Amino acid sequence: MRRNIAAGNWKMNTSLEEGMQLASEVVNMATAEVVKDIDILLIAPFTHLTSLQKIVGEAKNIFLGAQNCHEADSGAYTGEISAPMLKAIGVKYVVLGHSERREYFAESHALLASKTDTVLRHGMTPVFCCGEKLEIREQNKHFELVEAQIRESLFHLSADQMKKVVIAYEPVWAIGTGVTASAEQAQEMHAFIRKTIANKYSQSLADSISILYGGSVKAANANEIFGGADVDGGLVGGASLQSREFVEIAKAF
Ligand code: PGA
Repeated sequence: MRRNIAAGNWKMNTSLEEGMQLASEVVNMATAEVVKDIDILLIAPFTHLTSLQKIVGEAKNIFLGAQNCHEADSGAYTGEISAPMLKAIGVKYVVLGHSERREYFAESHALLASKTDTVLRHGMTPVFCCGEKLEIREQNKHFELVEAQIRESLFHLSADQMKKVVIAYEPVWAIGTGVTASAEQAQEMHAFIRKTIANKYSQSLADSISILYGGSVKAANANEIFGGADVDGGLVGGASLQSREFVEIAKAF
């Protein structure tokens, strides 16, 4: 059955020292307090990952994630980080297609399809992000858009590959804005995503995939959002930079 996941996306925040402090606090609190069987992901800047590995260590169900990687395994791509580099330092999850990468780095459906292949080939789990901008929702085209994002970047995968993917639905209008999608809006889209996957693959495969919600999740709203039958956790930005707040989110299932 699918896993519940609380994923903290630190984005381009924290010095190494701050990141190590944050990770230590999360590991300590989560180990002592989070009794439910959930996975906690710390999706930190590349420069922090090796040091964080020592902190996360053997902690039960706490894993490291990266925020991006290149689609090639190696080569003349100055400034990029490859999947084998991440794999070698113990990274288990790689976020792909975050709306900030789509927007500022022009990541296309085809590029994300290729990155997904690479991450899977190296035995890590892609956390594939999708979600619409406000004007798309206002035009009532959000289902169409999210369906296209998933179809164009994931539907070339075999069933065996697809069941290893985690999906994060993040409406762009809710990211970093303090405006959260309502629990109904989140559940509605998550159910749609699951149905889209079931139609292409099978209901049992769709039922095995974790679908996370992202966009202004905080301790005060997590329980309500995670209450949706198809909402399997959160991809948390701002609130993941405070250990107490993030652990409360992890306890909200
Ligand atoms: P936010 O970011 O929680 O700060 O809205 C979420 C994300 O971008 O993953």
